[in-house]
Amino acid sequence: MNFTEIENLEEQFQVATYAKMNIAVERGRGAWIWTSDGEKYLDLYGGHAVCATGHSHPHVVEALKDQAEKVLFYSNLVYSEIRAKAAEKLVAVAPDSLTKAFFCNSGTEANENAMRMARFATGREKVVTFTGGFHGRTADSISATFLGKYREIGKPNVPGHVAAEFGNIESVCAVADRETAAIMLEPIQSMAGVTEAAPDFFRALREICDEHGIILIFDEVQTGIGRTGNWFFGGSALAGGVEPDIISLAKSLGSGVPVGACLVNEKVSANIKTNDLGTTFGGGMLAMAAVVATLEAIENDRMRENIAEIESDLRARLKEIEEVVAVHGKGGLIGIEFAESCKPFHAKLLENKIITGTSSNPKVLRLLPPLCVTREEINLLIDAFRN
Ligand SMILES: Cc1ncc(COP(=O)(O)O)c(C=O)c1O
Repeated sequence: MNFTEIENLEEQFQVATYAKMNIAVERGRGAWIWTSDGEKYLDLYGGHAVCATGHSHPHVVEALKDQAEKVLFYSNLVYSEIRAKAAEKLVAVAPDSLTKAFFCNSGTEANENAMRMARFATGREKVVTFTGGFHGRTADSISATFLGKYREIGKPNVPGHVAAEFGNIESVCAVADRETAAIMLEPIQSMAGVTEAAPDFFRALREICDEHGIILIFDEVQTGIGRTGNWFFGGSALAGGVEPDIISLAKSLGSGVPVGACLVNEKVSANIKTNDLGTTFGGGMLAMAAVVATLEAIENDRMRENIAEIESDLRARLKEIEEVVAVHGKGGLIGIEFAESCKPFHAKLLENKIITGTSSNPKVLRLLPPLCVTREEINLLIDAFRN
């Protein structure tokens, strides 16, 4: 089918979701995708922040083929070697205090379960999140999302959600108390425009949580699995060494196979009993094979080291572009800020067959490339900016 045929069919039979680019993706490899019309695009948006290992990484594809030959799925009603290995491997790369994994299917579901576990652990209901944060579109997660119009879409909202100002510890002190179950945040607010906070902010959050018995949740749906050059933001120097009680994950975790997870410490896991949590598909064998292969691919190909080098290179090269007024973010989560709207740059790059992302900040263009992106591929972006 050509592009127009695909577009017409999809518009006819699928309800509206996102504003789409005018391309139909047929195949991908590394940082590149090929369209139904045989054109090639450089994907610096990583398939919507998902394809950290690059499109169809051979090791991941092989692992999925092998697993599909054995068994596609059985739920948590049975034990499974691949699930055991996925949990072991994820815990092995997690901050030391996070010792158990809960598997689910998406980022919003990971956050719903993270908040539920915090309520179990504390016996409280209130959740503090932050202006500019995005946590997903199901009822509790969208109620925790104080970015733009999302809470409106999610009406009626779940009660017990209050917002503080990201990076402002006084505003947290004003709302966090002994009735608070959790403080949850994106440690780098991606959709807001790649907004960062200082390590001292995370240290202060940890202190407030410890003082009041509050569970600290890092929503690492975007920052996790090597994105910043660290396996996780939590526990890294970026967080001032602070380890949260729960890390929620999705996006990069399965290289494109839908999978989410919560990593939790003993304080949290001790309060979870059989049947408190559940999901049919969470921990299914195909998804677990994707998790193991994703972690292996990042490790084997030294992708975390690569993305750290790419970031410093990119920052140096962006200094040559006079329209760029600031560069935000870390590793492979980069916000390029322009003096005016970034929309013309985004559109022009797409015309030049380079995919980037926008954000809620009209001036900030987002890059979320595969962690295996090369210097030569990044040079294509710089050349396009120059032109
Ligand atoms: C930080 C963050 N949390 C949660 C979500 C929700 O994830 P999902 O779309 O997999 O439900 C997203 C999605 O963009 C996200 O960026």
